[in-house]
Amino acid sequence: MMMEIFGVKLVILKSVYPPSDDSYLLVREMVINKGDVVLEVCAGTGIASVVAASRGAREVVSIDVNPEAALNIAINAVLNGYEDRIHPICADLTSPLRPNFTYDVILINPPYLPVEDKVDEALWWSAGVDGRKIIDRFLSNVKDYVKENSRVYLVQSSLSNVEKTISYFSKMGFETRIKGLVHKFFEDIVVVEAVYSG
Ligand SMILES: C[S@@+](CC[C@H](N)C(=O)[O-])C[C@H]1O[C@@H](n2cnc3c(N)ncnc32)[C@H](O)[C@@H]1O
Repeated sequence: MMMEIFGVKLVILKSVYPPSDDSYLLVREMVINKGDVVLEVCAGTGIASVVAASRGAREVVSIDVNPEAALNIAINAVLNGYEDRIHPICADLTSPLRPNFTYDVILINPPYLPVEDKVDEALWWSAGVDGRKIIDRFLSNVKDYVKENSRVYLVQSSLSNVEKTISYFSKMGFETRIKGLVHKFFEDIVVVEAVYSG
């Protein structure tokens, strides 16, 4: 499948999360300044990474645990002419990253639903009974990758305890707010913006 959105072209491979309302919310709300160095975790097709590059990001590291997603990010980088700036990696969260190499912006739209589905696509949404399996692991070491004024944009559902996320960020020295919200039938999808103040 192929689409054009936010001024970029995207191929969507079969086993990769097709961009949806949560992806669009992230792309709308993320603030990318020219020259920013960006990390995207749980990148899927790389929609946010490609748009970040189109807005002037200097380097974008894009990680997804699904090998086909890493391939998909590479294809979309080439399709839009950003293959020199987008670096796809197939890995579990931040596991391949050097600690203390910091980013201006970190993006994550992880699996966040409080379900334990077993179908193949569950990798897209299923995040354990409380919906926080990936979010809490991400939060446990995000501080290793930020410097003063780094911005983190994290997408999640109101079903997976947004207050807990905000409290985690605050304890680590981030100033946090709900930057955007989409109301769905049974939940709100929010983007939390967390700015590191040291
Ligand atoms: C909700 S989708 C979001 C995809 C993309 N960021 C978007 O907004 O369209 C969640 C993504 O997280 C990836 N994922 C799940 N567990 C992961 C992990 N442990 N490490 C890295 N990526 C993971 C999935 O493969 C999937 O692409």
